[in-house]
Amino acid sequence: MIAASAFAQSIEFSPEERARILSHGPWPAVHELDSSNRVDGNPIAIELGRKLFSDHRLSASSKRSCASCHDPKRAFQDGLRSTRHQRNTPTLLDVGQQRWFGWDGATDSLWAASLAPLAAKSELAATPAHIAALLRRDRTLNVAYTALFGEATADAANETILVNIAKTLAAFQATLVSPRTPFDEFRDALAQNDSAAIAKYPSAAQRGLKTFVGEGKCFFCHSGPAFTNGEFADVGRPFFTKSGADPGRWGGLQQLFTSPYNRLGQYADGGAQSAVATKHVIQEPRNFGEFKVPSLRGLLGTAPYFHDGSARRIEDVVQHYSTVDESRLHADGEKIVRALRLTPAQARDLTAFLKSLSGASSRKSK
Ligand code: HEC
Ligand code: HEC
Repeated sequence: MIAASAFAQSIEFSPEERARILSHGPWPAVHELDSSNRVDGNPIAIELGRKLFSDHRLSASSKRSCASCHDPKRAFQDGLRSTRHQRNTPTLLDVGQQRWFGWDGATDSLWAASLAPLAAKSELAATPAHIAALLRRDRTLNVAYTALFGEATADAANETILVNIAKTLAAFQATLVSPRTPFDEFRDALAQNDSAAIAKYPSAAQRGLKTFVGEGKCFFCHSGPAFTNGEFADVGRPFFTKSGADPGRWGGLQQLFTSPYNRLGQYADGGAQSAVATKHVIQEPRNFGEFKVPSLRGLLGTAPYFHDGSARRIEDVVQHYSTVDESRLHADGEKIVRALRLTPAQARDLTAFLKSLSGASSRKSK
Protein backbone atom coordinates (compact mmCIF):
# COMPACT_ATOMS: atom_id res chain seq x y z
CA MET A 1 0.00 0.00 0.00
CA ILE A 2 2.74 2.49 -0.90
CA ALA A 3 0.31 4.68 -2.84
CA ALA A 4 -1.96 5.25 0.15
CA SER A 5 0.82 6.66 2.32
CA ALA A 6 1.48 9.30 -0.34
CA PHE A 7 -1.89 10.82 0.52
CA ALA A 8 -2.46 12.90 3.57
CA GLN A 9 -4.58 11.26 6.22
CA SER A 10 -7.91 13.00 6.53
CA ILE A 11 -8.63 14.55 9.86
CA GLU A 12 -12.07 14.10 11.40
CA PHE A 13 -14.10 17.30 11.61
CA SER A 14 -17.26 17.57 13.69
CA PRO A 15 -20.41 18.81 11.87
CA GLU A 16 -19.90 22.16 13.60
CA GLU A 17 -16.26 22.43 12.51
CA ARG A 18 -17.24 21.40 9.00
CA ALA A 19 -19.88 24.15 8.81
CA ARG A 20 -17.31 26.70 9.98
CA ILE A 21 -14.81 25.55 7.36
CA LEU A 22 -17.41 25.85 4.60
CA SER A 23 -18.23 29.39 5.74
CA HIS A 24 -14.72 30.49 4.66
CA GLY A 25 -15.76 30.17 1.02
CA PRO A 26 -16.56 30.01 -1.78
CA TRP A 27 -13.69 31.97 -3.24
CA PRO A 28 -13.47 34.36 -5.00
CA ALA A 29 -16.30 36.12 -3.19
CA VAL A 30 -18.62 38.52 -4.99
CA HIS A 31 -17.82 42.22 -4.65
CA GLU A 32 -20.97 44.13 -3.84
CA LEU A 33 -20.88 47.43 -5.66
CA ASP A 34 -20.35 50.39 -3.33
CA SER A 35 -23.48 52.51 -3.56
CA SER A 36 -21.63 55.54 -2.16
CA ASN A 37 -19.48 55.49 -5.33
CA ARG A 38 -21.54 55.83 -8.49
CA VAL A 39 -18.62 54.82 -10.75
CA ASP A 40 -17.78 51.59 -8.88
CA GLY A 41 -17.75 48.76 -11.45
CA ASN A 42 -17.65 51.21 -14.38
CA PRO A 43 -14.96 50.03 -16.88
CA ILE A 44 -13.88 53.59 -17.78
CA ALA A 45 -13.46 54.45 -14.09
CA ILE A 46 -11.52 51.23 -13.45
CA GLU A 47 -9.15 52.03 -16.31
CA LEU A 48 -8.67 55.65 -15.26
CA GLY A 49 -8.09 54.55 -11.66
CA ARG A 50 -5.56 51.95 -12.81
CA LYS A 51 -3.56 54.65 -14.66
CA LEU A 52 -3.71 57.15 -11.81
CA PHE A 53 -2.70 54.56 -9.23
CA SER A 54 0.88 54.58 -10.50
CA ASP A 55 0.94 58.17 -11.85
CA HIS A 56 3.64 60.14 -9.99
CA ARG A 57 2.19 63.44 -11.19
CA LEU A 58 -0.56 63.07 -8.60
CA SER A 59 1.98 63.87 -5.88
CA ALA A 60 3.17 67.37 -5.06
CA SER A 61 6.81 66.30 -5.59
CA SER A 62 6.01 64.26 -8.75
CA LYS A 63 8.07 61.51 -7.13
CA ARG A 64 5.44 59.37 -5.50
CA SER A 65 2.35 57.44 -6.42
CA CYS A 66 0.06 55.02 -4.63
CA ALA A 67 2.16 52.23 -6.15
CA SER A 68 5.27 53.51 -4.32
CA CYS A 69 3.92 51.94 -1.13
CA HIS A 70 1.23 49.63 -2.56
CA ASP A 71 3.54 47.92 -5.05
CA PRO A 72 1.59 45.75 -7.53
CA LYS A 73 4.58 43.37 -7.65
CA ARG A 74 4.46 42.88 -3.88
CA ALA A 75 0.76 42.17 -3.39
CA PHE A 76 0.07 45.93 -3.27
CA GLN A 77 2.11 46.54 -0.11
CA ASP A 78 5.75 47.44 0.53
CA GLY A 79 7.15 44.76 2.83
CA LEU A 80 8.29 47.48 5.25
CA ARG A 81 7.70 47.38 8.94
CA SER A 82 5.76 50.63 9.09
CA THR A 83 5.15 53.81 7.11
CA ARG A 84 2.23 56.15 7.83
CA HIS A 85 1.71 56.86 11.56
CA GLN A 86 4.19 54.04 12.17
CA ARG A 87 1.68 51.62 10.70
CA ASN A 88 2.32 48.77 8.31
CA THR A 89 1.12 49.26 4.71
CA PRO A 90 -1.78 46.84 4.16
CA THR A 91 -2.18 44.86 0.96
CA LEU A 92 -4.96 46.15 -1.31
CA LEU A 93 -5.88 42.68 -2.55
CA ASP A 94 -9.51 41.93 -1.56
CA VAL A 95 -9.95 45.49 -0.26
CA GLY A 96 -13.33 45.53 -2.04
CA GLN A 97 -14.57 43.09 0.62
CA GLN A 98 -14.11 45.55 3.46
CA ARG A 99 -16.43 47.91 5.27
CA TRP A 100 -13.97 50.08 7.25
CA PHE A 101 -10.58 51.15 5.94
CA GLY A 102 -7.20 51.70 7.54
CA TRP A 103 -6.04 49.79 10.62
CA ASP A 104 -8.20 52.15 12.67
CA GLY A 105 -11.21 52.36 10.33
CA ALA A 106 -10.83 56.11 9.97
CA THR A 107 -12.69 55.94 6.66
CA ASP A 108 -15.93 54.19 5.74
CA SER A 109 -15.50 53.85 1.97
CA LEU A 110 -12.77 52.79 -0.40
CA TRP A 111 -12.89 56.17 -2.12
CA ALA A 112 -12.48 58.11 1.13
CA ALA A 113 -9.58 55.79 2.04
CA SER A 114 -8.03 56.66 -1.33
CA LEU A 115 -8.57 60.38 -0.88
CA ALA A 116 -6.75 60.51 2.46
CA PRO A 117 -3.30 59.52 1.09
CA LEU A 118 -3.69 61.93 -1.85
CA ALA A 119 -3.80 64.81 0.60
CA ALA A 120 -1.64 63.44 3.45
CA LYS A 121 1.65 65.31 3.87
CA SER A 122 3.53 62.07 4.50
CA GLU A 123 2.11 60.52 1.34
CA LEU A 124 1.27 62.34 -1.91
CA ALA A 125 0.82 65.76 -0.28
CA ALA A 126 -1.38 66.98 -3.14
CA THR A 127 -3.85 69.84 -2.81
CA PRO A 128 -7.24 69.71 -4.57
CA ALA A 129 -5.96 72.48 -6.90
CA HIS A 130 -2.89 70.39 -7.84
CA ILE A 131 -5.03 67.38 -8.79
CA ALA A 132 -7.60 69.49 -10.63
CA ALA A 133 -4.87 71.26 -12.65
CA LEU A 134 -3.39 67.91 -13.74
CA LEU A 135 -6.82 66.77 -14.87
CA ARG A 136 -7.53 69.88 -16.87
CA ARG A 137 -4.06 69.77 -18.46
CA ASP A 138 -3.75 66.11 -19.50
CA ARG A 139 -5.93 65.30 -22.52
CA THR A 140 -6.18 61.54 -22.02
CA LEU A 141 -7.11 61.86 -18.37
CA ASN A 142 -9.52 64.65 -19.22
CA VAL A 143 -11.42 62.62 -21.85
CA ALA A 144 -11.98 59.73 -19.43
CA TYR A 145 -12.94 62.08 -16.62
CA THR A 146 -15.47 63.91 -18.78
CA ALA A 147 -17.06 60.65 -19.91
CA LEU A 148 -17.62 59.73 -16.26
CA PHE A 149 -18.45 62.97 -14.51
CA GLY A 150 -19.01 65.64 -17.14
CA GLU A 151 -16.58 68.38 -18.00
CA ALA A 152 -13.98 69.49 -15.46
CA THR A 153 -14.63 73.12 -16.32
CA ALA A 154 -12.55 75.90 -14.83
CA ASP A 155 -15.29 76.70 -12.34
CA ALA A 156 -16.00 73.09 -11.28
CA ALA A 157 -15.01 72.89 -7.62
CA ASN A 158 -11.50 71.47 -7.18
CA GLU A 159 -12.77 69.58 -4.17
CA THR A 160 -15.34 67.74 -6.29
CA ILE A 161 -12.66 66.81 -8.83
CA LEU A 162 -10.49 65.42 -6.03
CA VAL A 163 -13.36 63.28 -4.74
CA ASN A 164 -14.15 62.01 -8.24
CA ILE A 165 -10.51 61.05 -8.80
CA ALA A 166 -10.55 59.15 -5.51
CA LYS A 167 -13.69 57.35 -6.72
CA THR A 168 -11.90 56.14 -9.85
CA LEU A 169 -8.94 54.96 -7.73
CA ALA A 170 -11.46 53.04 -5.62
CA ALA A 171 -13.14 51.49 -8.68
CA PHE A 172 -9.74 50.16 -9.74
CA GLN A 173 -8.80 48.81 -6.30
CA ALA A 174 -12.14 47.02 -5.95
CA THR A 175 -11.05 44.79 -8.85
CA LEU A 176 -7.96 43.52 -6.98
CA VAL A 177 -8.74 39.99 -5.86
CA SER A 178 -6.35 37.44 -4.41
CA PRO A 179 -6.11 34.06 -6.18
CA ARG A 180 -7.57 30.74 -5.08
CA THR A 181 -5.49 28.79 -2.60
CA PRO A 182 -4.89 25.17 -1.50
CA PHE A 183 -7.36 25.85 1.32
CA ASP A 184 -10.07 26.77 -1.22
CA GLU A 185 -9.52 23.51 -3.10
CA PHE A 186 -9.88 21.63 0.19
CA ARG A 187 -12.96 23.58 1.25
CA ASP A 188 -14.74 22.89 -2.06
CA ALA A 189 -13.70 19.22 -1.93
CA LEU A 190 -15.19 18.99 1.57
CA ALA A 191 -18.43 20.59 0.33
CA GLN A 192 -18.62 17.94 -2.39
CA ASN A 193 -17.46 15.04 -0.17
CA ASP A 194 -14.72 14.37 -2.71
CA SER A 195 -12.38 12.28 -0.57
CA ALA A 196 -9.60 12.01 -3.16
CA ALA A 197 -9.44 15.81 -3.44
CA ILE A 198 -9.75 16.19 0.35
CA ALA A 199 -6.69 13.99 0.84
CA LYS A 200 -4.54 16.27 -1.32
CA TYR A 201 -4.56 18.92 1.40
CA PRO A 202 -1.58 18.23 3.69
CA SER A 203 -2.53 16.73 7.04
CA ALA A 204 -0.50 19.36 8.92
CA ALA A 205 -2.69 22.08 7.36
CA GLN A 206 -5.81 20.06 8.23
CA ARG A 207 -4.74 19.77 11.87
CA GLY A 208 -3.96 23.51 11.94
CA LEU A 209 -7.36 24.24 10.45
CA LYS A 210 -8.96 22.19 13.22
CA THR A 211 -7.29 24.43 15.79
CA PHE A 212 -8.38 27.52 13.81
CA VAL A 213 -12.07 26.60 13.79
CA GLY A 214 -11.90 24.88 17.17
CA GLU A 215 -10.12 25.65 20.42
CA GLY A 216 -7.97 28.42 18.86
CA LYS A 217 -11.20 30.41 18.36
CA CYS A 218 -9.49 32.24 15.49
CA PHE A 219 -12.63 32.01 13.34
CA PHE A 220 -14.54 34.27 15.76
CA CYS A 221 -12.76 37.29 14.34
CA HIS A 222 -11.17 35.91 11.17
CA SER A 223 -14.51 34.77 9.76
CA GLY A 224 -16.09 34.44 6.32
CA PRO A 225 -14.49 34.02 2.89
CA ALA A 226 -12.00 36.89 3.48
CA PHE A 227 -11.11 35.63 6.99
CA THR A 228 -12.24 38.82 8.72
CA ASN A 229 -15.45 39.94 10.37
CA GLY A 230 -14.56 43.50 9.31
CA GLU A 231 -14.52 44.69 12.92
CA PHE A 232 -11.89 45.78 15.44
CA ALA A 233 -10.27 44.00 18.35
CA ASP A 234 -7.37 44.01 20.76
CA VAL A 235 -5.27 40.88 20.54
CA GLY A 236 -2.62 42.10 22.95
CA ARG A 237 -0.11 43.70 20.62
CA PRO A 238 1.58 46.69 22.20
CA PHE A 239 0.25 49.96 20.79
CA PHE A 240 3.02 52.27 21.97
CA THR A 241 4.95 54.07 19.26
CA LYS A 242 7.93 56.42 19.28
CA SER A 243 5.52 59.35 19.44
CA GLY A 244 3.24 58.02 22.18
CA ALA A 245 0.34 55.59 22.02
CA ASP A 246 -1.52 54.63 18.87
CA PRO A 247 -5.19 55.00 19.87
CA GLY A 248 -6.32 52.64 17.08
CA ARG A 249 -10.07 52.45 16.55
CA TRP A 250 -10.71 55.15 19.15
CA GLY A 251 -8.83 57.73 17.07
CA GLY A 252 -10.18 56.29 13.83
CA LEU A 253 -13.76 56.94 14.92
CA GLN A 254 -12.90 60.49 15.91
CA GLN A 255 -11.58 61.11 12.40
CA LEU A 256 -14.53 59.34 10.80
CA PHE A 257 -17.13 61.43 12.63
CA THR A 258 -15.50 64.74 11.69
CA SER A 259 -14.61 63.92 8.08
CA PRO A 260 -16.49 65.77 5.32
CA TYR A 261 -15.89 62.67 3.18
CA ASN A 262 -17.79 60.12 5.24
CA ARG A 263 -20.93 58.41 3.96
CA LEU A 264 -23.15 60.92 5.72
CA GLY A 265 -21.51 63.83 3.92
CA GLN A 266 -22.35 65.67 0.70
CA TYR A 267 -19.77 63.82 -1.42
CA ALA A 268 -21.22 60.34 -0.87
CA ASP A 269 -23.58 58.98 -3.52
CA GLY A 270 -26.31 56.54 -2.62
CA GLY A 271 -28.07 58.52 0.13
CA ALA A 272 -29.07 57.36 3.59
CA GLN A 273 -29.24 53.71 2.59
CA SER A 274 -25.49 53.57 2.08
CA ALA A 275 -24.73 55.29 5.40
CA VAL A 276 -26.52 52.98 7.85
CA ALA A 277 -23.35 51.54 9.45
CA THR A 278 -21.72 54.98 9.74
CA LYS A 279 -24.83 56.48 11.28
CA HIS A 280 -25.08 53.86 14.00
CA VAL A 281 -21.46 53.25 14.97
CA ILE A 282 -20.55 54.61 18.40
CA GLN A 283 -17.27 55.27 20.17
CA GLU A 284 -16.60 53.21 23.29
CA PRO A 285 -13.67 53.23 25.73
CA ARG A 286 -12.76 49.69 24.70
CA ASN A 287 -11.94 51.01 21.20
CA PHE A 288 -8.67 52.45 22.51
CA GLY A 289 -5.88 50.23 21.15
CA GLU A 290 -8.21 48.16 18.97
CA PHE A 291 -7.17 47.51 15.37
CA LYS A 292 -8.95 46.13 12.35
CA VAL A 293 -9.13 42.37 12.02
CA PRO A 294 -7.05 41.81 8.87
CA SER A 295 -7.82 39.31 6.14
CA LEU A 296 -5.58 36.24 6.29
CA ARG A 297 -5.49 35.59 2.55
CA GLY A 298 -2.14 35.85 0.79
CA LEU A 299 -0.11 36.09 4.03
CA LEU A 300 2.98 34.60 2.37
CA GLY A 301 3.25 37.72 0.21
CA THR A 302 2.50 40.37 2.85
CA ALA A 303 5.07 40.10 5.65
CA PRO A 304 5.65 41.74 8.09
CA TYR A 305 2.45 41.37 10.12
CA PHE A 306 0.24 43.28 12.59
CA HIS A 307 -0.70 46.97 12.44
CA ASP A 308 2.86 48.05 13.19
CA GLY A 309 4.59 45.33 11.18
CA SER A 310 6.12 44.04 14.40
CA ALA A 311 5.94 40.32 13.52
CA ARG A 312 8.42 39.34 10.84
CA ARG A 313 7.19 35.83 10.04
CA ILE A 314 3.94 33.87 10.24
CA GLU A 315 5.67 31.73 12.88
CA ASP A 316 6.05 34.87 15.04
CA VAL A 317 2.30 35.58 14.80
CA VAL A 318 1.49 32.03 15.90
CA GLN A 319 3.97 32.41 18.76
CA HIS A 320 2.12 35.59 19.79
CA TYR A 321 -1.23 33.80 20.04
CA SER A 322 0.43 30.91 21.86
CA THR A 323 1.95 33.05 24.59
CA VAL A 324 -0.09 36.27 24.63
CA ASP A 325 0.03 38.23 27.86
CA GLU A 326 -3.59 37.99 29.02
CA SER A 327 -3.21 40.78 31.56
CA ARG A 328 -2.54 43.13 28.60
CA LEU A 329 -5.93 42.37 27.05
CA HIS A 330 -9.05 44.39 27.63
CA ALA A 331 -10.87 43.29 30.72
CA ASP A 332 -14.35 44.12 29.47
CA GLY A 333 -16.41 42.00 27.11
CA GLU A 334 -16.03 38.32 26.43
CA LYS A 335 -12.43 37.24 26.46
CA ILE A 336 -11.88 35.35 23.26
CA VAL A 337 -8.13 35.64 23.00
CA ARG A 338 -6.25 33.45 25.46
CA ALA A 339 -2.69 32.17 25.46
CA LEU A 340 -3.09 28.90 23.57
CA ARG A 341 0.12 27.31 24.93
CA LEU A 342 0.61 25.33 21.73
CA THR A 343 3.14 22.51 21.58
CA PRO A 344 5.84 23.01 18.92
CA ALA A 345 4.02 20.49 16.70
CA GLN A 346 0.69 22.29 17.09
CA ALA A 347 2.36 25.63 16.30
CA ARG A 348 3.84 24.12 13.13
CA ASP A 349 0.42 22.81 12.10
CA LEU A 350 -1.30 26.16 12.63
CA THR A 351 1.48 27.83 10.62
CA ALA A 352 1.04 25.27 7.83
CA PHE A 353 -2.66 26.10 7.72
CA LEU A 354 -2.05 29.86 7.60
CA LYS A 355 0.44 29.36 4.76
CA SER A 356 -2.17 27.38 2.82
CA LEU A 357 -4.24 30.58 2.57
CA SER A 358 -1.85 31.89 -0.10
CA GLY A 359 -2.18 31.21 -3.81
CA ALA A 360 0.55 30.06 -6.17
CA SER A 361 1.86 33.56 -7.05
CA SER A 362 2.66 34.64 -3.48
CA ARG A 363 4.16 31.22 -2.73
CA LYS A 364 6.62 31.62 -5.58
CA SER A 365 8.06 34.84 -4.15
CA LYS A 366 8.96 33.09 -0.89
C1 HEC B 1 3.82 56.40 2.15
C2 HEC B 1 3.21 55.12 1.82
C3 HEC B 1 1.81 55.12 1.24
C4 HEC B 1 1.36 55.76 0.09
C5 HEC B 1 2.15 56.66 -0.86
C6 HEC B 1 -0.04 55.37 -0.05
N1 HEC B 1 -0.40 54.54 0.97
FE1 HEC B 1 -2.21 53.67 1.19
N2 HEC B 1 -1.68 53.04 3.05
C7 HEC B 1 -0.43 53.19 3.62
C8 HEC B 1 -0.49 52.84 5.03
C9 HEC B 1 0.68 52.86 6.02
C10 HEC B 1 -1.83 52.48 5.29
C11 HEC B 1 -2.42 52.12 6.64
C12 HEC B 1 -2.82 53.45 7.24
C13 HEC B 1 -3.55 53.41 8.54
O1 HEC B 1 -3.95 52.37 9.02
O2 HEC B 1 -3.74 54.50 9.08
C14 HEC B 1 -2.54 52.61 4.02
C15 HEC B 1 -3.90 52.29 3.84
C16 HEC B 1 -4.56 52.35 2.62
C17 HEC B 1 -5.91 51.86 2.38
C18 HEC B 1 -6.78 51.12 3.38
C19 HEC B 1 -6.59 49.63 3.16
C20 HEC B 1 -7.26 48.75 4.18
O3 HEC B 1 -7.14 47.53 4.06
O4 HEC B 1 -7.89 49.25 5.11
C21 HEC B 1 -6.21 52.15 1.07
C22 HEC B 1 -7.49 51.81 0.34
C23 HEC B 1 -5.07 52.83 0.51
N3 HEC B 1 -4.07 52.93 1.48
C24 HEC B 1 -5.01 53.32 -0.78
C25 HEC B 1 -3.99 54.17 -1.23
C26 HEC B 1 -4.08 54.97 -2.45
C27 HEC B 1 -5.22 54.94 -3.44
C28 HEC B 1 -2.93 55.69 -2.52
C29 HEC B 1 -2.55 56.74 -3.56
C30 HEC B 1 -3.46 57.87 -3.69
C31 HEC B 1 -2.12 55.32 -1.34
N4 HEC B 1 -2.81 54.43 -0.58
C32 HEC B 1 -0.86 55.82 -1.07
C33 HEC B 1 0.71 53.64 2.97
C34 HEC B 1 0.68 54.38 1.79
C1 HEC C 1 -10.59 38.83 19.07
C2 HEC C 1 -10.43 38.75 17.66
C3 HEC C 1 -9.29 37.88 17.11
C4 HEC C 1 -9.04 36.56 17.35
C5 HEC C 1 -9.82 35.61 18.25
C6 HEC C 1 -7.89 36.21 16.55
N1 HEC C 1 -7.46 37.30 15.85
FE1 HEC C 1 -5.86 37.35 14.58
N2 HEC C 1 -6.02 39.36 14.47
C7 HEC C 1 -7.01 40.12 15.08
C8 HEC C 1 -6.66 41.52 15.00
C9 HEC C 1 -7.45 42.70 15.54
C10 HEC C 1 -5.40 41.58 14.35
C11 HEC C 1 -4.56 42.83 14.11
C12 HEC C 1 -3.91 43.18 15.45
C13 HEC C 1 -2.85 44.25 15.36
O1 HEC C 1 -2.30 44.49 14.30
O2 HEC C 1 -2.56 44.85 16.41
C14 HEC C 1 -5.05 40.19 14.02
C15 HEC C 1 -3.92 39.82 13.30
C16 HEC C 1 -3.64 38.52 12.89
C17 HEC C 1 -2.62 38.14 11.95
C18 HEC C 1 -1.68 39.09 11.20
C19 HEC C 1 -2.21 39.40 9.83
C20 HEC C 1 -1.58 40.56 9.15
O3 HEC C 1 -1.74 40.67 7.92
O4 HEC C 1 -0.95 41.42 9.79
C21 HEC C 1 -2.67 36.78 11.81
C22 HEC C 1 -1.80 35.92 10.91
C23 HEC C 1 -3.71 36.31 12.71
N3 HEC C 1 -4.28 37.40 13.33
C24 HEC C 1 -4.05 34.98 12.91
C25 HEC C 1 -4.88 34.56 13.95
C26 HEC C 1 -4.94 33.20 14.44
C27 HEC C 1 -4.14 32.04 13.90
C28 HEC C 1 -5.83 33.20 15.48
C29 HEC C 1 -6.21 32.07 16.39
C30 HEC C 1 -5.12 31.50 17.15
C31 HEC C 1 -6.34 34.55 15.61
N4 HEC C 1 -5.72 35.35 14.68
C32 HEC C 1 -7.30 34.95 16.53
C33 HEC C 1 -8.15 39.64 15.68
C34 HEC C 1 -8.28 38.34 16.16
